[in-house]
This record gives sequence, C-alpha cells and structure tokens, in this order.
Amino acid sequence: MKVNFTETVLRDANQSLIATRMPFSDFKPVLEKLDKAGYYSLECWGGATFDSCLRYLNEDPWERLRNIRKACPNTKLQMLLRGQNLLGYKHYPDDVVRAFIRKSVENGIDIIRIFDALNDVRNIEVAVDETLKCGAHASGTICYTISPIHNLDNYVKLAKQIEALGVQSICIKDMAGIMSPKEGYDLVKALKANVKVPIVVHTHSTTGLGFMTLLKCVEAGADVIDSAISCFSGGTSQPATETLVYTLKQYGYEVDVDEKVCKEINDFFKPIRAKALDSGLLNPVVMGTQTDALIYQIPGGMLSNLVAQLTAQNKLDKLDEVLLETPRVREDLGYPPLVTPMSQMVGVQATANVLAGERYKNISKEVKSYIKGEYGQAPGKVSEELQKLVLGDEKPFTGRFADTLAPGMEEAKAYLGDKATCEEDVLSYIAFPTQAEAFFEKREADRKNTFAYTIKRID
Ligand code: CO
Repeated sequence: MKVNFTETVLRDANQSLIATRMPFSDFKPVLEKLDKAGYYSLECWGGATFDSCLRYLNEDPWERLRNIRKACPNTKLQMLLRGQNLLGYKHYPDDVVRAFIRKSVENGIDIIRIFDALNDVRNIEVAVDETLKCGAHASGTICYTISPIHNLDNYVKLAKQIEALGVQSICIKDMAGIMSPKEGYDLVKALKANVKVPIVVHTHSTTGLGFMTLLKCVEAGADVIDSAISCFSGGTSQPATETLVYTLKQYGYEVDVDEKVCKEINDFFKPIRAKALDSGLLNPVVMGTQTDALIYQIPGGMLSNLVAQLTAQNKLDKLDEVLLETPRVREDLGYPPLVTPMSQMVGVQATANVLAGERYKNISKEVKSYIKGEYGQAPGKVSEELQKLVLGDEKPFTGRFADTLAPGMEEAKAYLGDKATCEEDVLSYIAFPTQAEAFFEKREADRKNTFAYTIKRID
C-alpha cells in the first residue's frame, strides 16, 4: 500500500504557527530540496498566503507562486480555495471565481483543494468545474465537524455528491483537529467503500490526536496525508512529516518521501523557527497540546476568541455560561461546521445572548444573512423561532447565492484602469481591495525610483 504526503510548511504550517508571515526570500533557498523530497504535493498557496503577501510582506502573491513553480518543476503545487468565497468570506460572482482559478492554474497550481464552510455543494461546483476545464486536479473537500446530525451516512452522501462533480480526490478537512483516531478510521473506511477517488486526510495537532488519527486513517485506506516538516509541526500545525514517514515505512507502507532530504529541509527551517521564537512571532503556546477543544467540541481557536472577547469586556466570569450557550446557538443555526466565519458568528452570538441576559435580543448582521440563506444551505434545521424573529413571514432564500450576483471582472478592470498591469492584478484587487491598491501604489513608486535611477546612470 502506498501513502502519499502533502507537505504544508509553506502554507498551513506557516499560517497556523506564524500567521503566514514567512516571506518568500526566507524559504527560497530550500525550494530545490522541497522539490526533491518525494512529496506528492506542496501546499504553498491560497488560504491566508494571498492576503498576507499583500498586507504584510509587500509581495505580489502571483509572483510568489510563479517563483515557487520555477524552483519546483517536479512536484505538484497545491492551493486551498474556499469555493465561491475564493480566499475570503463573501460570495463572488461566477466570472470572478472562474478567472481566479484560470489564473491560478496558469501561474503554476496543479491541485486545488476546494471547500465550503457549510459543506453546501452548490458553493463549490463552479470552482470544481473551472478547475477541471483548466486541466488541473480538483480535490473536493468535506469540512469535518461533530454534531448530532453529522454521521457516517451523511458524510458518505456528501462525498458521493462531491464525487459526482468529477473531482479527482476527496479531502477530509479537520480544521480543528477534533477528529479522533476512531472517527477518522470509520470515516475513511466508509468513504473508501462508497467512492472511487483517492481519499486525502487533513488534520491539525491542536488536541494531540493528529498522529494517531492519521495512522488509523492510513490503516483504513487513506491515500494522501498532510504533514509539516518537524520544526514547523505540532500544536495548531500538522503532525510531523519525518515521524509519519518513519512510522509508516516501519509498517511496510510504500512512501516516496526521502528521510535524508527531509533532514536537510528541517535543518534549513530551524534558524527560521528560532528567529520566529525570538521575535515572538511564534508563540510557544500554539505548539502545545490543547485538550479543552475535546471537552467543548469547539476548535481551540474559537475557545481563545471567546476568552479574549469576555476578557475585553471584563466579563470572564461568564465564560461557563457562554460555553453552555455556544452549542445551543449552534443547534439553533442547524449545526454549521465551526470553521471561519461560522465559528466567529456562533461565538459572538452566544456571548451576546449571555451578556444581554436574553437570547437573541441582539442578532448580528452576519447571523441575519446566514438565516436569510445568503451563506448557503444550513446543514440541519434552523430554529423556527429564530427564523421568525429574523425573517418575520418572509421565506429564506434557498437558491445558490452567487446566482444573484452581477459579474465582477469588467467593473473592477474599468475601475482600476492603468493601476492594474494584468488580469492577476484585477483579481488581487477583487480579493483584497484596500491591500491590493496600497500594494499597487508602492509597486508604482518603486518602479519610478528604479526608472529615475536608470536614467541617471545613462546620463
Ligand atoms: Co488546516
């Protein structure tokens, strides 16, 4: 049996441990080694990398991608995409989604992992369709969550719907690291029995389950697992690549990843990790094991958000009440997976309910649009009482929200004019308008400086 590895150091590990602040120049020298390590794919783009490049690193995310592509001609490059939300949280019109995917593939992406926060298949179908049209690999994704309505039958049903879109693989995405070894084993077994495409497993070490869960998932037949090179592994990041390679080879699995090259890659990243620890960018807390998420069945990040929210309002004594209210709000909303932005919406609403001393006295704008159906189909039934409170006698919208949106590319192009030098710029602007415009201005200023300098030299 063969087990393939996706290395996450450039994207998820970078994002989970150091808020995606690793500049391209830091990891450029190791790309050649990453390309030779025998990984099935390198997750290197999408998620928060795009935003971070523009906002903090003064990098053109597209240029980063092209440079990685150039340095890694032999390994598949992978990105994470939030379906109709692309890299953000709002719905984009279909022409924008298609252009974004076309340009991602043109600039070097081979595999696009496509998910929707609510597991609403309608929110990933256009992205999957365009990925396939561009000749790339679409990895349809199931956001893993635990609730009374999420069971093996439902996950199998969802996987079949996703497979019917024509994806080349299905990924189980456990963003909170709450999938136990037993749950992982049962789920992979069930999927392997019911769908034909390879199964990918993505988890986080947050609660300490990660290694055990991946091992059991492999035993159940998982084809690809996500891991991070050891000095950027653990805690809120993925389980360590080298440890998994060591273990799986001992069990006789066929693994292409080369331990010697891994050692070189890890040695390369050690000083980067040390620098991040020194500067405080890497907080030792995120590298530890946080088991509270297992008790409350909510992601670790959500728990720390709740604590921060209450502390800011001097109401930390209400934490227990908020923790009791959180699952009730989630139930009222039809058990959405607790991934951004649902985790924030549920947490903020639970806090508001407790602090006001009355449930749903104040309802956030986001919860209102969720109940109106603007995020997609809730996984379960939304409380009728709450629906009535928000909508009155109106019916919620049940269509695909992107169908209500006017095309976006031409308008953005017209607005930007000369500021955009290519279609990639237009897409950067649509994804993160303020950050992209600031980036274009800086780039133009730099260009003028270089130009003046060139003229001076000729004189
Ligand atoms: Co992740």
